[in-house]
Amino acid sequence: MSSFEEIWRSQSGIGRVADTGGYRRFAWGEADLACRRWFADQAVARGLAVEPDRNGNLWAWWGDPRAGDAVATGSHLDSVPDGGGFDGPLGVVSAFAAVDELRDRGVSPRRPVAVVCFSDEEGARFGVSCVGSRLATGVLDPHRARGLRDTDGVSLAEAMRGGGVDPDRIGRDDDLLHRIGCFVELHVEQGRGLVDLGAPVGLAERIWPHGRWRVEFTGQANHAGTTLLADRHDAMLPAARTVLAARALATELGAHATVGRLLTEPNGVNAVPSRVRAWLDARAPDEATVRRLVAALTDAAGRAGAEHGVGVAVSEESWTPVVDFAVDGGPFAGLARVLGEPPVLPTGAGHDAGILAGVLPATMLFVRNPTGVSHSPAEHAETDDCLAGVHALADTLEHLACR
Ligand code: HGY
Ligand code: MN
Ligand code: MN
Repeated sequence: MSSFEEIWRSQSGIGRVADTGGYRRFAWGEADLACRRWFADQAVARGLAVEPDRNGNLWAWWGDPRAGDAVATGSHLDSVPDGGGFDGPLGVVSAFAAVDELRDRGVSPRRPVAVVCFSDEEGARFGVSCVGSRLATGVLDPHRARGLRDTDGVSLAEAMRGGGVDPDRIGRDDDLLHRIGCFVELHVEQGRGLVDLGAPVGLAERIWPHGRWRVEFTGQANHAGTTLLADRHDAMLPAARTVLAARALATELGAHATVGRLLTEPNGVNAVPSRVRAWLDARAPDEATVRRLVAALTDAAGRAGAEHGVGVAVSEESWTPVVDFAVDGGPFAGLARVLGEPPVLPTGAGHDAGILAGVLPATMLFVRNPTGVSHSPAEHAETDDCLAGVHALADTLEHLACR
């Protein structure tokens, strides 16, 4: 069994739900804390120095953490609700396996190599994606972050404290950023690009601009059986219209729009909904299209609300601008040649590499996903392709750390 398969198996049971086969690894929850312990065990087993940063991200150092110009690689271990097992973990497991491969090759890096696990990438519990990398790079305000709350009312500050991180210290970490020369994230492809091209590994060209908006509909609770239709202020009706309008606008504008989360109050079968909160995920190849979609949807939601005497409020919860990766520039010059000129693909999925790219050279390797399905228990990658990914990542790290 390869190093990759051994490492893979040592974490693949954490947070996996028997009846769906999906993963429920939510930031600072029990499964997430178990993942963090797993990461530290893997690092210690390799003699790597483990250093949590002030934002809850975990770093495992091969070489002097203070030397500077480090080559960092990794991803995240948290998941969406009932997510697949590869989104995130493939990048962290492959990073440890690539370190093993470099050592087997007898490679002695000329600069530090760091394996990193970013905290709370999916934002499944507190609603904002890439929390760990956004805090570290200063694009998420620490005060706002501390106040984020989950559906039980637990704040991110309380949850971080429960995980041993002092929430009063979170924020941009220049001391850390100045020690990182470049970052490489290996990730399962969340699409069919590599399948259609018949390639096991690819490089990332760009990440579409994307964001999340909360749309709040405020109506009036009433009795489902006795209230006349004309007297109702049913929050669900404009919400339903808005969900359908999102898809129609996405089709019209060549964008992707999804309402995957809906919370209803009082949430009773025989009660007219008084409040509905819907979360819109909108993405497109360019920022102007996303903004046009959100503006048109806000207008449509307002009009639908007015028809039913329901108030509507739209607020942006997170935004990620377009990321164009320096595929063959800066420290990555010559990398495509080293990897045998793999396909270069855009993606609509956000990643910590996209956040890091705002402050330092970053790139991504994609590993073939036979079905393209992701954020689902059906997400999969073949072992041979995963091993090809580890080999490509080892080649990448050797190219970057020994140049
Ligand atoms: O939502 C995304 O694109 C990523 O999976 N966090
Ligand atoms: Mn994801
Ligand atoms: Mn991911």
